[in-house]
Amino acid sequence: MAETVAARLSAAGTAAALELRGVSRYFGALAALVDISMTVRPGERRAVLGSNGAGKTTLFNCITGDFAPTSGAIRLFGEDVTAFPPYERIRRGLRRTYQISLLFNGLSVIDNVYLACRGVSRGRFSLIRPRRGDALAQSAEDLVAAVHLHEVRDQLVANLAYGQQRQLEIALALAGAPRFILFDEPAAGLSPTERAELIEILTGLPEHIGYMIIEHDMDVALRVATRVTMMHNGRIFKEGAPHEIEEDPEVQALYLGGGGDGGR
Ligand SMILES: Nc1ncnc2c1ncn2[C@@H]1O[C@H](COP(=O)(O)OP(=O)(O)O)[C@@H](O)[C@H]1O
Ligand SMILES: [Mg+2]
Repeated sequence: MAETVAARLSAAGTAAALELRGVSRYFGALAALVDISMTVRPGERRAVLGSNGAGKTTLFNCITGDFAPTSGAIRLFGEDVTAFPPYERIRRGLRRTYQISLLFNGLSVIDNVYLACRGVSRGRFSLIRPRRGDALAQSAEDLVAAVHLHEVRDQLVANLAYGQQRQLEIALALAGAPRFILFDEPAAGLSPTERAELIEILTGLPEHIGYMIIEHDMDVALRVATRVTMMHNGRIFKEGAPHEIEEDPEVQALYLGGGGDGGR
């Protein structure tokens, strides 16, 4: 018995952050994902490239548990989570951001982050107003700083620039103790200055936090990722180091052929 526990702990220590084996997802007859297998090491930063409809968001939905895969298995830090609901995956350190915004527009930046911290902590149903100096309040302040929003800390979300709203979404995904985060097109619609800011925020995240980022802009992807997966028609088309993907003639053909049009 003790041996089993020890074996499990040591497996968790060396296990991949994320492992997909033969994951497929159909919508009726439409194959959105076909036999996807991939392994992401702890702390790894993986970009997922691919044109509109390639299956990138569906891949994220299967990893988070928002959609069940039609077949295949998903392991998170060594544990098979294929049948787990989303909240059980969140409890194990998985987070995501969405392509659409889920912010509270009528609340301030700091209140949005505070609520997110509270939502993933124990005792979240307590209605007692937090004391000053409470640990959650401090975490919220730290997260606001981590996404470079300290100067607009008290502004209502509705009054933020678009890029600042996207930065705030990243802060929400960082609430609690995330170990692996899925970012769905965080750079979509950003100005060049906002993109540069995003790259700084992502590359400045603590090293133990791994992530997967869906990104159409090859330049952004290559700067924030240590490894790249390119998807096409629901399948993995190429996987490799950023420079290998960038220099790959087939990838270039797909991109120049209209696959990398921004997908919006
Ligand atoms: N909820 C859904 N119902 C039906 N079809 C869907 C649904 N979600 C995605 N699809 C289809 O699955 C394919 C992949 O979509 P998606 O994963 O959103 O691609 P991407 O994020 O790469 O643009 C598309 O053909 C899309 O129309
Ligand atoms: Mg998508």
